[in-house]
Amino acid sequence: MGLSIIILAAGQGTRMRSDLPKVLQPLAGKPVLAHVLACAEDLVATDVCVVYGHGGETVQAAIATPGIRWALQAEQLGTGHAVQQAMPGTADENRVLVLAGDVPLLTAGTLKRLLAETPDGDMAVLTVDMADPTGYGRIVREDGGVKRIVEQKDANASQLKIAEINTGVILCPGGRLKTWLDKMGNDNSQGEYYLTDVIAMAVADGVAVHGIKAENSAEVMGINDKKQLAQAERALQARLVDELMQQGVGFADPARVDIRGTLKCGRDVFIDINAVFEGDVELGDGTQVASNNLIRDSRLGANVVIHSNCHIEGATTGSDCEIGPFARLRPGAALANKVKIGNFVEVKKSTIADGSKVNHLTYIGDAEIGTAVNVGAGTITCNYDGVNKHKTSIGDNASIGSNVNLVAPVSIGKDATIGAGSTISKSAPAGQLTVARTRQTSVPGWKRPEKKETK
Ligand code: UD1
Ligand code: CA
Repeated sequence: MGLSIIILAAGQGTRMRSDLPKVLQPLAGKPVLAHVLACAEDLVATDVCVVYGHGGETVQAAIATPGIRWALQAEQLGTGHAVQQAMPGTADENRVLVLAGDVPLLTAGTLKRLLAETPDGDMAVLTVDMADPTGYGRIVREDGGVKRIVEQKDANASQLKIAEINTGVILCPGGRLKTWLDKMGNDNSQGEYYLTDVIAMAVADGVAVHGIKAENSAEVMGINDKKQLAQAERALQARLVDELMQQGVGFADPARVDIRGTLKCGRDVFIDINAVFEGDVELGDGTQVASNNLIRDSRLGANVVIHSNCHIEGATTGSDCEIGPFARLRPGAALANKVKIGNFVEVKKSTIADGSKVNHLTYIGDAEIGTAVNVGAGTITCNYDGVNKHKTSIGDNASIGSNVNLVAPVSIGKDATIGAGSTISKSAPAGQLTVARTRQTSVPGWKRPEKKETK
């Protein structure tokens, strides 16, 4: 007997008031639905089927998970109707676990407990007590046992007071589920086929229904509007930061950091306020991230200091580097050890070897810089001729004066010195001073023009 997982993701999400389908709204840098799929992947399922409809191909295109089955629900007639679309192809002998595509904070641990606590052939619904149950389906119990679910819009005054709600997660024997879905009507206030009606059908057929309570209500919150999306974002961020703090990462304020992807940290990493991490980021032992930094898809080595207000994307560094404040590392910036990148410096697709410094107001693009090089303030690698990009190479221990233009393709030899203000368009030899600028001249007897009297 296997496990089939059905994820409902066909709804429009009207309350989101957005052109983007609800299940594609971003949460911690990934579509809401991707979080549900990641959770499903942690369970050992025979098959995973996503019911899609509103947003059609957009949803399929955004979700790249291989091996999932897609079932189209062309018209959104309700959650029961949605599950029905996935039933052809779902084995009768399997247990079917229905998840909502808009409940993204659910953990695999909770679902594993639900699966373990429900004997084969029985049914289960994951519930939780909500301080404010408004909007959710209420769990109606009699003598302790679950009898049925009543939707908010169909509930009477006393049912509305029930705090125990349906999280949308239902576990059911496949064959039984098919039979009940086929019998289902839509005689309710919304004229929809409610999946929740299978509870009462199970009770009528003498199938035991277990109401299993989730431990915390944050985990099972459904996302229907932008306010709930923002609440879920905060709850998920708190969870991610908690995990990192348990691993020993220090945060100035756990509430003022955002992780939109995965953040891996070594020992004694410290992160100040308003740091945003996107994609896959790795920080080595002892690395410090000051306030207001954006770091995306980058790997920083040990004991690196990122000062405030940097934008770092697709970069790698060795250990003991110092970056910023106000530095920009773009894709392909590869710094070795003890490299310093100072304020208003942009580095793109360039390697900078050990101990080199680029401290002020500089653009380094398509360059290869050796060890112990000093690049003076205002230096520009002129890498683009308007059509093609060209390379600049700078040998070990070279010293580039301030305000130098390096017109690529060009190479600067080892130990070379380039005079300030030079525009270098031919290679400069090793060990020599190269200067390329007009000589300074003074004009004897020259006078400033005088203002003429106007009549
Ligand atoms: C549903 C439950 C409610 C529960 C709540 C938990 C029903 C009738 N109600 O209400 O008891 O407390 O979830 O969050 O099941 N969907 C489809 N096709 C459809 C309609 C919906 O795929 O025709 C999908 C939606 O994309 C969504 C999920 O099913 O991912 C839930 O639908 P939604 O309309 O949000 O249901 P709720 O009103 O929140
Ligand atoms: Ca919902």
